[in-house]
Amino acid sequence: MSSVVIAPSVLGANFAHLAADLKQVIEAGADWLHLDIMDGQFVDNISFGPGMVQTIRRLTKLPLDVHLMIERADHYVPRFIEAGANSITVHVEPEAKHEIGKTLRAIREGGCKAGLTLNPETPFAFVEPHLPNIDLLLIMTVHPGFGGQSFEPEMMEKVRRAQDLRSSLGMRYALEVDGGITPETARLSIESGADVIVAGTAIFKSADYAAAIRALRNQR
Ligand code: DX5
Ligand code: ZN
Repeated sequence: MSSVVIAPSVLGANFAHLAADLKQVIEAGADWLHLDIMDGQFVDNISFGPGMVQTIRRLTKLPLDVHLMIERADHYVPRFIEAGANSITVHVEPEAKHEIGKTLRAIREGGCKAGLTLNPETPFAFVEPHLPNIDLLLIMTVHPGFGGQSFEPEMMEKVRRAQDLRSSLGMRYALEVDGGITPETARLSIESGADVIVAGTAIFKSADYAAAIRALRNQR
């Protein structure tokens, strides 16, 4: 068995029959569910908020991995903790308009795993000072905002750097990739050190969710 975590991105599901879609993906072997929160400011799209997280919380006991692509995450974090998130990931870019150290502490104090993420154009150096204080590092492999974009292979350099630092400094954060993940790009990511794989299109646009999840684990 591989120890890789597969996290289907709810953004890729069909909202007209969301509960049925999620039930199916859970039965197909999803390990976590990835929930993309977009505010139309930090990214150029609007998705859903804490109410939807709470609704999904009632459908499953699987870990809910909340990815906040919003301004002022510090202000909204308590509502996502209350809604039942298990991990909450915030952006490191100055445009996210929050005090990163303070937001990460608030997430942990709320009993959630604290995650930090960076856009493809953001240098890895931005996250380095925070590495000792996180449980999860999310390397974006597309510019966030929309599902169905193409994977940027250059981001594997960041994944390898994060993996090297993790082993040389004995840190324990999980290493997650998000955007344009297919069985091929999942393999590349896992080889580079990733252990949490987020996928929207590759799972929800496939006819057989279980086969799609197995393919992402690179199993037959
Ligand atoms: C991108 C989101 C992703 C997205 C992934 O802004 O953060 O989680 O849903 O979708 P795919 O797998 O289709 O690239
Ligand atoms: Zn995401």
